[in-house]
Amino acid sequence: MLSVAILAAGKGTRMESSLPKVLHKISGKSLLQRVIDSCVTLNPDQIFVIIGHKSKEVEESIPNDKKIHFVIQEPQLGTGHAIQVLCREVKKHKGKLLVLNGDVPLIKSATLKKLILLHDSKNADVSLITTKKKNPHGYGRVFLKGDTIDRIVEEKDCNNQEKENLLINAGIYCFNWDNLSKKINTLESNNNQKEIYLTDTVSLLKNSLSIEIEDNGELQGINNRIQLSKCEETIQNSIKEKHMLNGVTFINKASCSISEEAEIGKDVTIEANTHIRGSTKINSNCFIGPNTFIENSNVGINCEISNSTVYDSQIMDHIKIGPYSHIRPKSQISSYSKIGNFVEIKNSQLEEESKVNHLSYIGDSYIGRSTNIGAGTITANFDGHEKHQTKIGKNSSIGANTVFVAPINLGESVTTGAGSVITKDSKDNSLAISRTKQINIENWKKKKS
Ligand code: UD1
Ligand code: CA
Repeated sequence: MLSVAILAAGKGTRMESSLPKVLHKISGKSLLQRVIDSCVTLNPDQIFVIIGHKSKEVEESIPNDKKIHFVIQEPQLGTGHAIQVLCREVKKHKGKLLVLNGDVPLIKSATLKKLILLHDSKNADVSLITTKKKNPHGYGRVFLKGDTIDRIVEEKDCNNQEKENLLINAGIYCFNWDNLSKKINTLESNNNQKEIYLTDTVSLLKNSLSIEIEDNGELQGINNRIQLSKCEETIQNSIKEKHMLNGVTFINKASCSISEEAEIGKDVTIEANTHIRGSTKINSNCFIGPNTFIENSNVGINCEISNSTVYDSQIMDHIKIGPYSHIRPKSQISSYSKIGNFVEIKNSQLEEESKVNHLSYIGDSYIGRSTNIGAGTITANFDGHEKHQTKIGKNSSIGANTVFVAPINLGESVTTGAGSVITKDSKDNSLAISRTKQINIENWKKKKS
């Protein structure tokens, strides 16, 4: 039987934040969610999350799952105290208890499996992960005696000589739960932080083992925003390297960010300062960026999107967007269309080969195939109470500065005169024009004041 305990009750004082530390995010996902996800792959029988500081907020951040149980630690007297509370709350202490600090978010399931394998094969009381850090500042130092761990000394309790030890405790442990529960209440807080340390159990238990892992970033603990940013960099580098090996070019890799779920096809070029977020798919041969933000959208093949933002939308094939376009949720732009500068599109469907090239707002609209929307065209979709639809049939030609006061339904091959305010529907092949006729007053001079 495998149980997991994730320690997430602390405030995270060094983050200098009103948000609990474990709710800070890297690449869009909270530290706590990341640790949970790494554990779920191990298929444990139950996962306990120890919460305390802003417990409601932390609990609500995690989607319901019958395997996940929240245990409240109040007050928070240290990592050892957190496990004391767990052992009191949960009566059955059978099998293994995998304990993880909630602030080591990049830990891989494969590494946890290795730890469990060692633990099982050596029938240990506790096994934990160590690594050698060039700069071990802030971590507990692990002192070995032969094959077993002698003791762990926290940074704040280390003398100068102990500080030289580069072997650190990663904060990830596998315990024989029954043996742990027999010793857990004997922990004391006679240390410089006056906290009950979980790390003191290694000296109380008999068979304490460690497994040293080469540090490739996955063991980075997060106590402050410098370390948060280090983890973000680690994860971003690995995401971008994966895409580069699959045929994606980054012009200025460091200035871009890509979500873990994003899919990017071959021969896509990502220009500087471009951010691909959420579950976005970019198909092959696209040029994206510079200065572009795309979230939860699909982009077809051979598209060019520059200096623009796209949210929750479908962009089909061979489409040019930008510079300075804003595509808002629920838009569908069909193939061979062109959306130009300073154009906002929201909740609208544009059929193939449509063009909205300059300075327009198209909201709640349907634009038929091969229709050209002239510069400055606005769909006035809101009457103060409700939103209404504008429908323009195929092969239409909309004059510059047309305002459509929705609801409006235009037929196919309709032309509107420049500067018209369109308030009535019109049939196929008609010209809709609504503006006062121009008068020229000849020989007119301004009155002198
Ligand atoms: C801890 C370890 C240290 C290790 C490091 C690795 C101890 C005493 N020290 O130090 O050896 O090198 O992690 O990252 O364990 N928490 C609770 N309840 C509490 C206190 C903390 O749930 O009462 C949680 C925190 O929310 C956090 C985790 O435990 O997620 C670790 O606590 P933190 O204060 O960050 O420990 P470190 O000083 O980093
Ligand atoms: Ca920590």
